[in-house]
Amino acid sequence: MELKIAVLPGDGIGPEIVKQALDVTKAVCKKFNHSLTYREALVGAVAIDAGGDPYPQETHELCMNSDAVLFGAIGSPKYDNNPSAKVRPEQGLLAMRKKLGLYANIRPITTFPSLIHQSPLRSELIEGADFVCIRELTGGIYFGRPQGRSEDGQVAYDSSVYTVEEIDRIVRLAYDYAMKRRKKLTVIDKANVLATSRLWRETARKIEKEYPEVETEYMFVDNAAMQIIQWPKRFDVMVTENMFGDILTDEASVITGSLGMLPSASIGIHTSVFEPIHGSYPQAAGKNIANPLATVLSAALMFEYAFNLHKEGQIIREAVNASIQQGIVTEDIAENGKAYKTSEVGAWITNYIFSL
Ligand code: IPM
Ligand code: MG
Repeated sequence: MELKIAVLPGDGIGPEIVKQALDVTKAVCKKFNHSLTYREALVGAVAIDAGGDPYPQETHELCMNSDAVLFGAIGSPKYDNNPSAKVRPEQGLLAMRKKLGLYANIRPITTFPSLIHQSPLRSELIEGADFVCIRELTGGIYFGRPQGRSEDGQVAYDSSVYTVEEIDRIVRLAYDYAMKRRKKLTVIDKANVLATSRLWRETARKIEKEYPEVETEYMFVDNAAMQIIQWPKRFDVMVTENMFGDILTDEASVITGSLGMLPSASIGIHTSVFEPIHGSYPQAAGKNIANPLATVLSAALMFEYAFNLHKEGQIIREAVNASIQQGIVTEDIAENGKAYKTSEVGAWITNYIFSL
């Protein structure tokens, strides 16, 4: 098969972790006789520095003309510490999601047996936890207008806006996932307070009738935040709006043992994007210490979702499992003082794939 991908390393640790994921992708393509072509482009703070735009038209065109996008991370302290900056790196990520129509962000949460004891949560609570968070990605408070500041600067506002159409398509997608899994869906909202959440619930209740085989439950987001930590095994598929999904999945990463472990697939209307859920970790940039596994696992999702190549995705997951089991891991999940560099972990996984 011919795989044509766009590679967007972005900021901070982005280039280091994407390099590992790309090497792993190359190895899998070689092993399975796929032909891989890829081109890199700028996004985020590096794109602002180069031309003032965090998601340049050139980058967008490359994404549109590719079969999949492998993405690293975005963000820079230069902008975090400057609240009056007119252009921010994160706008690049949001623009990319919006322009590519990536309304669904799939974030699978699973545990790795050899990492269970690394979690601050008790092992009997998290052993076997396996759920998927489906986060709406192009609506809600991230994109709602008006957004801004009053002229005198004393008032700021964001707007959370959702249409029935936006809710309908993501809830249906979540039901389709639930049908392929354990047939349980949790719709997470704040319907006791927010008008958008009430529309979510109303819309979901209508769709629920079309999926009688799926057990549907509705849960307030504050309660969900507690249950994810207290009883993660109760969840199968959860669906929620943009900001709740952002927050709940960072929380859920604690189950996995490190934020550096969680991959994601952003899918929708145009080319899908595969990205770790973590950020650009600027403190570690250039030090070759960041955990590349979330990005490597995102490459596994890319084979599966964008190319329907399941054996290829599985082999990456196997290799990642083996690296964890043998302790070839970065400092965030290393034990007994032996930590490997980002590039060493990547090289080990690549070699392992060739050895299979
Ligand atoms: C994520 C990130 C982004 C988000 C940031 C970098 C804009 O936290 O992908 O979860 O909030 O969506
Ligand atoms: Mg986030």
